[in-house]
Amino acid sequence: MRAIGRGLVIACFILAPAVAGEPVVPPWAYVVTPPRDPNTPQPAPDPTPRALPGTDVTFTATQMRDLFNVPDWYPTDHPAMPEVVAHGRKPGVFACGYCHLPNGLGRPENASLAGLPAAYIIQQLSDFKSGARKAVQPNLVPQVMMASIGVHAADDDVRAAAAYFAALKLRPWIRVIEADTVPKTRVGGAMLVALADGVEPIGTRIIEVPENTERTELRDSKSGFIAYVPKGSLKKGEALVTAAKPVACTTCHGADLRGIGPVPPLAGRSPSYLFRQLNDLKAGNRAGDWSGLMKNAVAGLSEKDMVNIVAYAASRAP
Ligand code: HEC
Ligand code: HEC
Repeated sequence: MRAIGRGLVIACFILAPAVAGEPVVPPWAYVVTPPRDPNTPQPAPDPTPRALPGTDVTFTATQMRDLFNVPDWYPTDHPAMPEVVAHGRKPGVFACGYCHLPNGLGRPENASLAGLPAAYIIQQLSDFKSGARKAVQPNLVPQVMMASIGVHAADDDVRAAAAYFAALKLRPWIRVIEADTVPKTRVGGAMLVALADGVEPIGTRIIEVPENTERTELRDSKSGFIAYVPKGSLKKGEALVTAAKPVACTTCHGADLRGIGPVPPLAGRSPSYLFRQLNDLKAGNRAGDWSGLMKNAVAGLSEKDMVNIVAYAASRAP
């Protein structure tokens, strides 16, 4: 009996990786910033004031690189930001609004925070702090920074930031387009940006790029994104989200995917971000206090299923 037991254990051990499957790490969802060539000189200080349409505010390129000062192009567009959102807390906590934008709409490499439940935001900071929340791709600079912010942020600052972002409304920010072909892209910062020329088949991918690369490079919080998704993905995604396998996603996230109580909304959010989360949850890399509630929901999802689901979620009105 014992020998059989041992044999079984060994057999399971050998079979386990093949059965569970290595997590996928698609480069369109986990965009790795290419390392800086040490031979290229640091950019020279550039005193030219940059401007955007619809605002009198200007910032220089040097100012825009300061992670303790949000380039707030539209100060009247949102309520007054708490100190930690506008300036962070030196030395370890960069300004939340720098990455997530003052209006909380976020970018594909981070997350929209506008309208997330405050209790949920506080829980996520705690998961980043404990190390329970990590991406399957460890070399993502913004994610590594976010984890470190979780470690260093004081409870008062987390509460203030959570209250601020929870009170904001998520607005339509990502235009979802079903397509067979997509623009060729390059990595710009930590996201994909469209090249001027050339198209390629979409495959099982989502290609999320700025509507206007130049404005996004200036961290314009009024210039959103386009997400190209595979043809037919919205319909398939809708079927998956409403199927009871074992419990429909909509039971917890709401029929309109706008969240219920502390369960986060999914509608109108970045599909690249949402894909990373499903994938990280499935791989067990996101294993926070509340992640167990997602365990059964993600267990049976294939990469294609996740693409279809997040395409549909992103296309819904926030
Ligand atoms: C350097 C950029 C950066 C800064 C500054 C930053 N974040 Fe983040 N944040 C990220 C990234 C990147 C992610 C997404 C991680 C991922 O894809 O798993 C994230 C994710 C989050 C999430 C998870 C959202 C969700 O839906 O689960 C919360 C909450 C959050 N950040 C809050 C904050 C708060 C509060 C601050 C300020 C104290 C802050 N962030 C500052 C980059 C940043
Ligand atoms: C039993 C309730 C429940 C069900 C069913 C459920 N979820 Fe969730 N979902 C949650 C909770 C709770 C969280 C927060 C998990 C955490 O904190 O790690 C979450 C988180 C998520 C996130 C990450 C959101 C973010 O802001 O980072 C995504 C994406 C998601 N769920 C999608 C789905 C999909 C798709 C399904 C169906 C296949 C589904 N969920 C089914 C409760 C549920």
